[in-house]
Amino acid sequence: VDAAVAPKILADKKVVVTAGPTREHIDPARFISNPSTGRMGYALARAASAFGADVVLVSGPTTLDAPAGVRLVEVTGARQMHEAVMAEADSADFIVKAAAVGDFRPKQASDQKVEKGAMAGKLELERNPDILAELGQKYGARTDGPLVVGFAAESFDVVERGKAKRERKGAHMMVANKIGGARSAFGADESQVAVISDRGVTEYGPASKDALSREIWREAVALANSRTG
Ligand code: CTP
Ligand code: CA
Repeated sequence: VDAAVAPKILADKKVVVTAGPTREHIDPARFISNPSTGRMGYALARAASAFGADVVLVSGPTTLDAPAGVRLVEVTGARQMHEAVMAEADSADFIVKAAAVGDFRPKQASDQKVEKGAMAGKLELERNPDILAELGQKYGARTDGPLVVGFAAESFDVVERGKAKRERKGAHMMVANKIGGARSAFGADESQVAVISDRGVTEYGPASKDALSREIWREAVALANSRTG
């Protein structure tokens, strides 16, 4: 969107967007991560900025440049992302969790490179904090705090699973996207999403991540307006 002509539907709003994968180190030479490129989150940050918002982009490791005018907070692991998001949450009007947060991290991380023979068959994992669930628990039932938007990456039963995930996590809005297939999600130019909230389900795409970002913000703003009257 051309910032000069975009309607300022997010003027005076603070927006926190998370993007990219997280990375959990096993040792300095090895980590566990996922295929997220960060493109959806960066597109959302760019669109929010064009719509007039004050944008904080909390990003895991990506090869992308931060959009102009956006404050970039770079993180590596899920715990670091958790801390960065919570530090910005209370003062935010919208929090959009587009990041592909790793569900697990190695139980033991080593500062020194581990001998491969010593690691074979021994890698134990533990759960990371669920940032979205914590945000949902804190703000989901309120009408005055930030509007909490989650993403659901699903490979089947996209809308049904997205709905269930929204309820489980207490998010106000869930953007469910289909992973797998040439035209969707991870690494693709285009994506296809279902926006789920108390207002119903609306499907968008296949369309560019920029175009989808604009639709997602329009939905989020409409939902925010509907809850405050
Ligand atoms: N999420 C999060 N913290 C985590 C895991 C996920 O904040 N530790 C967020 C993601 O940023 C996304 C949403 O939760 O907005 C859904 O992520 P997803 O991986 O689809 O859901 P999970 O609950 O992790 O379920 P699963 O991976 O088992 O499908
Ligand atoms: Ca997950």
